[in-house]
Amino acid sequence: MSFAVYEPEATGERLPVTVRPALADDVEAMTDIGLRAGRPVRPDAYLRALDDERRCVLVATADLAGIESQVVGWAQTSHRTVVTDPAPAGHYLAGVTVDPRLRRRGVATALTRARLEWVAGRAMEAFFVVNARNLASIALHRPWRFAEVARGPRLAGVTFEGGVGLLLRAPLAPPGAGTGGGRGAVR
Ligand SMILES: CC(C)(COP(=O)(O)OP(=O)(O)OC[C@H]1O[C@@H](n2cnc3c(N)ncnc32)[C@H](O)[C@@H]1OP(=O)(O)O)[C@@H](O)C(=O)NCCC(=O)NCCS
Repeated sequence: MSFAVYEPEATGERLPVTVRPALADDVEAMTDIGLRAGRPVRPDAYLRALDDERRCVLVATADLAGIESQVVGWAQTSHRTVVTDPAPAGHYLAGVTVDPRLRRRGVATALTRARLEWVAGRAMEAFFVVNARNLASIALHRPWRFAEVARGPRLAGVTFEGGVGLLLRAPLAPPGAGTGGGRGAVR
């Protein structure tokens, strides 16, 4: 199981992070974070995504233990155009992963806010698919009013451990009007 344990009562002090587009030099750190998190890693796919203007690939960095700009988490979007299952075409949030040592500090919130701002410049709605068991991820996205629109064994080309995934959708405000909820520090 590579999901965070669902602990609604636990939280931590916000970590000041900088969110910026990922660079080729970040792929190693992105891969390390995925491995540390027990997630499947695809460094070649990350590299390809960096050159795809239909996708937003971001890292969050922080100054830690006297070392500046350490990558502490990353996330991307995908633009779905070919529909092969109940998930519609559109921009999907994907792959948000935070270093397990730095969770509950607002890092994923900062990455999600920034990706939703990016999507809001291109669409009036955003989607994501998530394993129904991944309660931490579902809770993370709640401030943006994501609502379930479908559930099933295969959504947006993803199959789910345990057999049930959820498709969620959030309406987006135009750029400048904000994208709803969210917490965490971005500087
Ligand atoms: C899910 C994940 C990205 C969250 O990262 P994070 O930086 O810890 O998230 P944040 O600190 O921004 O949390 C924001 C809110 O989400 C909710 N949340 C996040 N993790 C949670 C957990 N383990 N249990 C309960 N709620 C959680 C809380 O409401 C939290 O706010 P709070 O800390 O003020 O209570 C991280 O646990 C992770 O990398 N998990 C493995 C990869 C994964 O499952 N990605 C999602 C794929 S769809």
